[in-house]
Amino acid sequence: MLKISDLTKKYKMKDKEITVFENLHLEIPFKQSASIVGKSGIGKSTLLHIMGTIDQPTKGKVFYENDDVFSLSDSQLAKFRNRNIGFIFQFHHLLSEFTALENVMIPNMVFEKNKTIAKEKAERLLEEVGLKDRITHKPSEMSGGEQQRVAIARALINQPKAIFADEPTGNLDEKTSEAIHELLLKLQKQYEATLVVVTHNERLAKQFDIKLHMTKGQILQLED
Ligand SMILES: Nc1ncnc2c1ncn2[C@@H]1O[C@H](COP(=O)(O)OP(=O)(O)O)[C@@H](O)[C@H]1O
Ligand SMILES: [Mg+2]
Repeated sequence: MLKISDLTKKYKMKDKEITVFENLHLEIPFKQSASIVGKSGIGKSTLLHIMGTIDQPTKGKVFYENDDVFSLSDSQLAKFRNRNIGFIFQFHHLLSEFTALENVMIPNMVFEKNKTIAKEKAERLLEEVGLKDRITHKPSEMSGGEQQRVAIARALINQPKAIFADEPTGNLDEKTSEAIHELLLKLQKQYEATLVVVTHNERLAKQFDIKLHMTKGQILQLED
């Protein structure tokens, strides 16, 4: 179970304080998929970043099973993140100097420190996401949809407990978006990962096990 408890995020600016959300509670059973929709600026990215441990809450806790992740030291948390969490951003965030294969290998080399294993795993994953013949391409030599497929392979290489995707299809056309969502849901099941996706596409959001709607101050689970 991925659980957030009493979660608050405020930004302190020079002359004001912004409260993004206060006292949010949410539970997502492991191996389930959840979509989050909500207006722009409501705090979806902020929430996803905190659940994915790449940002800190002002108050409250995030649990992976019984692990209270923000009670870990910085180095323990970095290790936890590398092993348990995969992130996919709207703009892929791939390293531009490296090939698709290298981009996917890197998190695994940090984890298992074995280049041969990392290469084998990365090749297999790139094949699974349909990029067998693109492995030596750099990000600039691939389409937006292909770059996102690389980002998906990279997020999966350490077989994380949880994958977070922040509008992964935000700058892709409808057909490519659909294919990417389909791929994410297929791999989530295959790899038995928890998947949380922020999307503005209500139709694609409906394909997830849990449908969440974020509004000012709360996050609601929608019934089917
Ligand atoms: N680093 C920051 N400093 C101050 N305010 C921020 C920062 N990041 C985000 N915000 C504010 O927090 C709110 C939520 O942002 P965000 O989580 O990106 O929303 P969403 O992803 O739903 O569009 C917005 O009002 C935004 O302006
Ligand atoms: Mg956002």
